Amino acid sequence: MSGKITFTIIKPDAVGKGHTGKIIDQIIQAGFKVKAAKLVYLDERTAGGFYDIHRERPFFKDLVAFMTSGPCMPMVLEGENAVASFRELIGATDPKKAAPGTIRNLFADSIDANAIHGSDSDENALRESSYFFAATEIF
Ligand code: CMP
Repeated sequence: MSGKITFTIIKPDAVGKGHTGKIIDQIIQAGFKVKAAKLVYLDERTAGGFYDIHRERPFFKDLVAFMTSGPCMPMVLEGENAVASFRELIGATDPKKAAPGTIRNLFADSIDANAIHGSDSDENALRESSYFFAATEIF
């Protein structure tokens, strides 16, 4: 049985273009409950630590530069089969491959500026949630 928690970040491109409200509405309409949310402006150390598993990948430097380019909105979400169903809602990492109607299809421009992050496993959903939120900030 898969877990009910996933973690997301509405990324700086989507926040900067004023898409935050529309994206949260789409998430709620899909049946997710927002358990925690805040607007943060990441520094290099915090963004690099979050994406530590990608540190050796060729895109790591650009990824950190992008994630520190403006405010973003991390959120903890609750829903049935949360990780898999949320990844379906946001679409493929590369928006060119994202299915019509998915969040990345609607709001993302490129694989770098791809509007939104979604955890890829239950384990990472918990790790990523606790990277940004204390237990007392999750409701
Ligand atoms: P995200 O789901 O936040 O996880 C890592 C991010 O790295 C990913 O979304 C993309 O925005 C970015 N990225 C850039 N290039 C690649 C790539 N070739 N493969 C995977 N992720 C990439």
